Amino acid sequence: MTKKIIHNIQEAAEYLRKGDLVAFPTETVYGLGADAKNPTAIAKVFAAKGRPTNHPLIVHLADAAELNYWAQDIPSDAVRLANAFWPGPLTMILNKQPYVSSVITGGQDTIALRVPNHPLTLDLLKTFGSGLVGPSANVYGHVSPTTAEHVIHDLENKIAAVLDGGPCKIGIESTIVYLTANSTTIMRHGIISMEEIARVVHHPVAANANQQSKIRVSGSHAAHYAPTTPLYVDNLPNILKATQSYRLQQENIHVISFTPKPLNLAPEIAWHQVELDPHAFGRNFYAVLRKLDRLNFAAIFIEQPPQTAPWAAINDRLTRASAKHQV
Ligand code: TXA
Ligand code: MG
Repeated sequence: MTKKIIHNIQEAAEYLRKGDLVAFPTETVYGLGADAKNPTAIAKVFAAKGRPTNHPLIVHLADAAELNYWAQDIPSDAVRLANAFWPGPLTMILNKQPYVSSVITGGQDTIALRVPNHPLTLDLLKTFGSGLVGPSANVYGHVSPTTAEHVIHDLENKIAAVLDGGPCKIGIESTIVYLTANSTTIMRHGIISMEEIARVVHHPVAANANQQSKIRVSGSHAAHYAPTTPLYVDNLPNILKATQSYRLQQENIHVISFTPKPLNLAPEIAWHQVELDPHAFGRNFYAVLRKLDRLNFAAIFIEQPPQTAPWAAINDRLTRASAKHQV
């Protein structure tokens, strides 16, 4: 067992003060933490992930009261959203204060901010006493980590430690909204839905479906959050058809479906039935992808969930995780 999995908040804060990287748990996924006021430490985050330096980072705060230090021209809708959802899985993009390092923001004038809802990390942020940058603690383009072990798997030699807070309760990255004085735009779907946001803000809410915006969201690249095993998302009849051709080639595949395995299907075809519930699905999704990825299947098939609002974040991640392998 690696010594890098730690439970002590003082120890984690010490590393961060020295400019070292410490991964931390959140309710969504684990973040790769560094002192948001230390450009050298922030540069280490990009290097560790292998992430292009123009892809901006989220700054994590202990309390919404710190918003004014990092952002300016804060619209009243942002205050409403903070009151409604923080601490929680919502990230807001606002105009940054001029003194905030543009290393964080990839050279942009906006900054992404969030108060995460995990007791250990809220404690860490208070003990540390300032903001922490925290992209998902995975290698660039890979599946986000939802346990301390996942972080170690991707980044063991690149971090000082990971603060172990157990498996993440939500398992899918935060909803990202871009706010101006008179608009609210969803940049990344998450467990907090567009409808929930629309109920709180006083301006119309749009989803940034086309990627025309000059705002960059690295997770919005088509092939992102992807396992190495080819992943296909399709309806059940098509999956069943495909299983036959893989069988002819004597290749092992794994199916994830909302229905039980058909009785007539070959025993070699691995089949996992999951609950038709977006919260349960989201909680396990990345962990299951990582596990299956290690088992060397020729392909993974996932039954397409319903195309309804509660599944928006899941459908978005499924599309990205399977994008490399679309024909
Ligand atoms: O749930 C989450 O949001 C997790 C946990 C650790 O908080 N963090 C996370 O970070 O998913 P990351 O870096 O993997 O994804 C954040 C996304 C990136 O796609 C980034 O490009 C976008 O937010 N982003 C950050 N700052 C931005 C800005 N100023 N303008 C536009 N997009 C921004
Ligand atoms: Mg990420």
